[in-house]
Amino acid sequence: MAHVKSAGRILEGRFLEFVGKHPGVEPHKRHHLRVETEQGELVIKVPKYLRAGLRQDLAPGAWVRLAVYSDGDHFKATDVVWTQERYPQPLPQPSRSRTCIQVCQKGTCSKRGSRLVWQAIQASLAGRPLVDQVTVEATGCLKACKAGPNVRIGRVAYHDVCPEQVPQLLAQHFPDPES
Ligand code: FES
Repeated sequence: MAHVKSAGRILEGRFLEFVGKHPGVEPHKRHHLRVETEQGELVIKVPKYLRAGLRQDLAPGAWVRLAVYSDGDHFKATDVVWTQERYPQPLPQPSRSRTCIQVCQKGTCSKRGSRLVWQAIQASLAGRPLVDQVTVEATGCLKACKAGPNVRIGRVAYHDVCPEQVPQLLAQHFPDPES
């Protein structure tokens, strides 16, 4: 299996399966994605906050784009989006001007539906060029628990966000150049 050392980059490939750190690990402990890329097969660890959603929605054969960094000779993902069709645009690389979308995934926000907000953001970004302009980050408490789910886009904070609001929020911050 190929190992490529790099930091802060976007990888693209076909998702093959979930794997564990060691062979024979029980399915719920498989925290890595095996992905077929142009550099060969890579095994990429996914963070805790993405695992449940990926296990539920990601199927073998899907095309995935991952924001990754290297930790020694291991890859770790900070974000994963996917689609059933191969991405038509050339593979983008991160730019310094990316806007960060932060979604609180802690206690109160989580109870108030932040996971659905997170999924709505992923769904809105999938297959759009926008995915190259933003980084989506699940964060800890943003100190506005009673007004959760809390989302920050760049420096602007939004409270009581529901999944239905997500397309409008993204359109406000990232207007479609063709409209
Ligand atoms: S739990 Fe989300 S802001 Fe505190």
